[in-house]
Amino acid sequence: MAQTRDSFGSRFAVVMALAGSAIGLGNIWRFPYMVGQYGGAAFILVYLACLVLIALPIFFAESIIGKSTGRDTFGALESIAPGTGWKNAGYIAIVASFVVLSFYSVVGGWSVDYLLRACTSGFHFEDPAQAASVFRDMNASAVEPLLCLVVFLGLTAVIVSAGVDKGIGRFAKITMPLLFLMVLLIVWRSLHLPGARAGVDYLLRPEFSKLNGRAVAAALGQAFFTLSLGVGTVLTYSSYMRKEENILHSGLWSAFFDTVFALFAGFAIMPAVFSYGIEPGAGPSLVFETLPVIFSRMGWVVPVIFFLSILIAALTSSISMLEVVVAWLVDQKGMSRRNATILTFVCALALGSACALSPRVFSTCDFLTSNVLMMAGAFIFAIVAGWKMSRSEFHKHFTNFGTSRASSAAFPLIYFLIRYITPIAIIAIAVANFF
Ligand code: TRP
Repeated sequence: MAQTRDSFGSRFAVVMALAGSAIGLGNIWRFPYMVGQYGGAAFILVYLACLVLIALPIFFAESIIGKSTGRDTFGALESIAPGTGWKNAGYIAIVASFVVLSFYSVVGGWSVDYLLRACTSGFHFEDPAQAASVFRDMNASAVEPLLCLVVFLGLTAVIVSAGVDKGIGRFAKITMPLLFLMVLLIVWRSLHLPGARAGVDYLLRPEFSKLNGRAVAAALGQAFFTLSLGVGTVLTYSSYMRKEENILHSGLWSAFFDTVFALFAGFAIMPAVFSYGIEPGAGPSLVFETLPVIFSRMGWVVPVIFFLSILIAALTSSISMLEVVVAWLVDQKGMSRRNATILTFVCALALGSACALSPRVFSTCDFLTSNVLMMAGAFIFAIVAGWKMSRSEFHKHFTNFGTSRASSAAFPLIYFLIRYITPIAIIAIAVANFF
């Protein structure tokens, strides 16, 4: 079965695609709020420690499994631990990816809806209560969210079916720089509002007294979610890296862009929220109820830019989820990329519609993936890379056969973190989440 596999054509494409997967709704609607709630700069330090010491090693574990085997999530685990049950663990990741895709696309659909509204006249909200009722009405009319879900999933599918480099890579190379530019424009507008200072203080003033166990668990959970760990996206994208690509390099750059974007999102949102004297919240209500009120008072350009940013951030993430499933269908089931994409699109549309129509289904899918499946997947990847792959294989692929000086220097620490620290940390978060 010597079919040639697609690959990313350049280092820039790899980093943009990985950063695109990492940067998503989590950066916009969770991170800024968490920072404010859990102690500003003090929380940022804890977050960075979690990112570097725990999340990044798991990223490297997934990446090395994908790159060294050049196969989909299932095939990669099978080739590292043949004849064992580990390959079945690949199914956990593939199912998780599919479930995340389904409910994430519902939110993607909302952003399509709000972008269209912002482009047409009459995008104006008096106060959060009125904006909340508009949001409720939109969801009560089943047709509108479903149509937008179809559009969002359709866009995702079109890009994925165009191929790894020509579709995913090219889309990320164009939209990611644009996304940074757009969010910087909003930051600039937001920081110039009267009273913006309070928002900056909210984000940056270090308050070590607010750092408790919950804050640490939140930081860890966020670091996991934002790097898209445990569901095979990093693994699958890494399987499309060319030989000369460097795992340490691409991981560090993606995490860097991801963190910078999260901070930018904070400076775009919080100064504006405080300037208008509105309580900052998190989640859908922040993006679809609070911020429309504020941004619609700044003319029509800012809301359009804002919802276009949300749409791009969500699309580059949903693409990465769809690709996990498509890669498996193509590599293991011998389907064409086009048919695999169509099949997954139809199935995700079915589960996504259920999520769009029932808040219960939506939150069950969210809880199941964020708290159970992602953790299980991350644990499995850490064990497989740290304990099932031989140390020499790991070293060879991590250091590009010993040619990378930086990777060779980082190897002992990263290998130690993957083998011992990350599995323990994952169990600790799982326990913390349940109590
Ligand atoms: N990291 C993205 C965010 O912050 C979401 C995301 C992309 C994701 N791929 C994922 C989450 C896979 C879980 C699993 O919004």
